[in-house]
Amino acid sequence: MQTKILLDEEQMPKKWYNIQADLPSPLDPPLHPATHKPVGPDDLSAIFPMELIRQEVTTDRYVDIPADVQEVLRLWRPSPLYRAHRLEKFLKTPAKIYYKWEGVSPAGSHKPNTAVPQAYYNMKAGIERIATETGAGQWGSALAFATMLYDLECTIYMVRSSYTQKPYRKSMMQAWGAECIPSPSTKTNSGKAVLEKDPETPGALGIAISEAVEDAATHANTNYALGSVLNHVCLHQTIIGQEAIKQFEMAGDDPDVIIGCTGGGSNFAGIAFPFLGLQLRGGRKRRIIAVEPASCPSLTRGQYAYDFGDTAHLTPLVKMHTLGSTFIPPSSHSGGLRYHGMGPLVSHVYEQGLIEARAYHQKTCFDAGVQFARCEGIVPAPESTHAVRCAIDEALRCKKEGKAETILFNLSGHGHFDMGAYIAYFDGRLTDQDYDEDELARALAGLPSIAA
Ligand SMILES: Cc1ncc(COP(=O)(O)O)c(C=O)c1O
Repeated sequence: MQTKILLDEEQMPKKWYNIQADLPSPLDPPLHPATHKPVGPDDLSAIFPMELIRQEVTTDRYVDIPADVQEVLRLWRPSPLYRAHRLEKFLKTPAKIYYKWEGVSPAGSHKPNTAVPQAYYNMKAGIERIATETGAGQWGSALAFATMLYDLECTIYMVRSSYTQKPYRKSMMQAWGAECIPSPSTKTNSGKAVLEKDPETPGALGIAISEAVEDAATHANTNYALGSVLNHVCLHQTIIGQEAIKQFEMAGDDPDVIIGCTGGGSNFAGIAFPFLGLQLRGGRKRRIIAVEPASCPSLTRGQYAYDFGDTAHLTPLVKMHTLGSTFIPPSSHSGGLRYHGMGPLVSHVYEQGLIEARAYHQKTCFDAGVQFARCEGIVPAPESTHAVRCAIDEALRCKKEGKAETILFNLSGHGHFDMGAYIAYFDGRLTDQDYDEDELARALAGLPSIAA
């Protein structure tokens, strides 16, 4: 009974897979925030290196992973695929449960898969410093690690609620040489404007993005990097699903259901898109489920519309499922899922009926995370517990229906810096957060109107 399905280093994919090559209809273009005309490479070159702008729009099916980037990725990749025998037994399900374990990276999640190439292309373009935001602290840590490798400076605006919850994330970023600032801050005009209105604000990813974009746009040697949402980020994460396809071939199995949690959509895209690409090129249909928090349900409650990626409206307008860029989700322990929008590619395939979406409250996710830890040993990140909850529910459905389906989920990160959340859970202090319906209605009413 094999538990770990492992690839050799030389079996690590040498190209990223780009789902834009196989989409039944193309993505709507991003629009300039002022003119509402499609943005061109020059509009983006103030904050991104040209190679990443190219990757954002390319429709080539495959993009080569530079040899230097492959060398770094080999520090932890290929990541293991596990068969969750003990969880299956505990659930008494006929289903087979597999998980792809991305917590083996130095930062503890899938985020370094894109942090490394992003830092690499910025270094190649002669950039000296990168500014970014972080919700859970996973992306900030990943970029701190990646920028250190290429001798770049790094400034990270960390959503204040997470900054307070997770002081160790900040020191991890410092250990890799980065500067970490609670957001909103007084360093930027965007941050000051929010603080003036609400000095006690917990912050939000949309605000931290505004601060990082403003920092990059106002400093000549500085670029901006985003840890999710954008097409090139989803592209870099497809190494996960491509490895999984090879690992399932080795195991002589094939997933019927594929599950990932969604903040901006990158780890979900990473595991799902290579399988979805097989389907779009004539392969068999699988169920693919995106799992989001009920407190910030952009896919299941948001509108599919053009919206800003940030609160201060500095970013281009992108077509996505959104709760409105002024919507501030309630604080939760899944900081990495607290974003008002969903990546355009994930939104697009959802709109086309190619994937399903589901929202869960946090307590039931922690129940699943603890059940998983007690069977499989790994303590999942709060974000990842959303995928665990869904995988367990699917396995229980299989039990009820007497079906031996194969379930794959992405275990996007470990929870070693999230034990504050687990303390709250074990003390019975963890509550389910509901968003304010009036605030959501106001934020949606404020969506920019775009001429058709
Ligand atoms: C462990 C973990 N999983 C998932 C996410 C959600 O991000 P994405 O939807 O881009 O994968 C985050 C974001 O910080 C994270 O830290």
